Amino acid sequence: DLHDRRAIRGSYVTFRANPFDGPTQDALVLEEDGLIIMEHGHITHCGAYSALHGLLGDNTPVTHYKDCLISAGFIDAHVHYPQISAIASWGEQLLPWLEQYIFPTEAEFANINVARQTARLFLAELLRNGTTTAAVYCTVHPQSVDAFFEESARLGTRMIAGKVLMDRNCPPDLQDTAQSGYDQSAALIKRWHGRDRQLYAVTPRFAITSTPEQLELAGDLLHGTPGLFMQTHLAENLDEMAAVRSLFPNNTSYLDVYAQAGLDGPRAIFGHAIHMSEHDFAHCHHSGCTLAHCPTSNLFLGSGAFRLFDALNPDRPVHVALGTDIGAGTSLSLLATMGEAYKVSLMAGDTRLSAAQALWLATAGAARALHLHDRIGHIAPGMEADLCVMDPNATPLMAQRNARCTSLSERLFTLMVLGDDRAIRATWVNGKMAYEKNVDPA
Ligand code: GUN
Ligand code: ZN
Repeated sequence: DLHDRRAIRGSYVTFRANPFDGPTQDALVLEEDGLIIMEHGHITHCGAYSALHGLLGDNTPVTHYKDCLISAGFIDAHVHYPQISAIASWGEQLLPWLEQYIFPTEAEFANINVARQTARLFLAELLRNGTTTAAVYCTVHPQSVDAFFEESARLGTRMIAGKVLMDRNCPPDLQDTAQSGYDQSAALIKRWHGRDRQLYAVTPRFAITSTPEQLELAGDLLHGTPGLFMQTHLAENLDEMAAVRSLFPNNTSYLDVYAQAGLDGPRAIFGHAIHMSEHDFAHCHHSGCTLAHCPTSNLFLGSGAFRLFDALNPDRPVHVALGTDIGAGTSLSLLATMGEAYKVSLMAGDTRLSAAQALWLATAGAARALHLHDRIGHIAPGMEADLCVMDPNATPLMAQRNARCTSLSERLFTLMVLGDDRAIRATWVNGKMAYEKNVDPA
């Protein structure tokens, strides 16, 4: 029926190729006056307004975004929803930060009302930031997963999430056992994986908080159901590296601990991956893993600089996506995260990240890395209709700078260096407007 048909008009950007493989102009597509027609949650047509407006008929509502830039919705490949309340906690690196701030915050999720209220706030914040898909850690409590997926299902967002597994080296009230973690995860997989747009990720927190038995059972879970994701932390901090070496003296590297348990492979997402050997990168390439680059978090906890262009080495490229990693990260905005990734690329003595490359990592590249590129990450017919509408003139400062921009690349770059939630004019999810910024009447 035509009643579910909607359209948006405005400038839009999407990718026809990977901007890490060649010149920006070969990869990035700009439709200056575009039209995107959506029905039943999918894009049915997109292209020049002049060519497509005849398809609209009389009854299709059209939202016109003037002076904006529309993109596929942003994808956050690594974030902890329960930690939103502990963002901006002072003074510690990873391991003491977890003990002092994070474990006490996550313990509050034994209370289902805390989980529901936080899930609602968190998902509303994602939409305020233009993020339409995220790979999300819940807590060790199974009800924290139910609360999250219930809210995501209500909003119609495509989310990846899972129950944290930890059976050692954490407070007793946050501990599961290898068997209870397995059983609870299996029940959640049955309840949520593939239910409308929800996808499950087997989620061992990291090697320090799981016994070899728990990692082994996590591998069994992962291989027991098609299409599952796996998410964990890898090689983030030097004290963490030393602890892993002493807990797993027989493994050849930190990554090897996960690989031995069958936790590597396509749809395995490793957060951070800062302290990596050439051998580790090669292993990730051959097994098809994804690394989540979390620049604001790595700066906030003093963890180090992710070597992006080393990871992407064309001789053995590894999939990379961006993560905000709230609560160690300092912003839920993928725009802000792209801006920090640019700074870190200079810091790491790396090649300089271009604006188009940064946008790719937050959209089409992330979708590719997560094996969801047939559904999200592009503006194209048949894709799910998840879009974000950016306003390059969102603040007086941005407007001042944007007035001098002479190219699309320059406009995108100022958006990622200066932009955050203020630059998101609207977010569309599953073919419907899910967030609209309050704009002062002119
Ligand atoms: N390593 C293990 N758990 C965590 C976490 O919650 N945040 C970060 N940044 N690193 C971790
Ligand atoms: Zn994390």
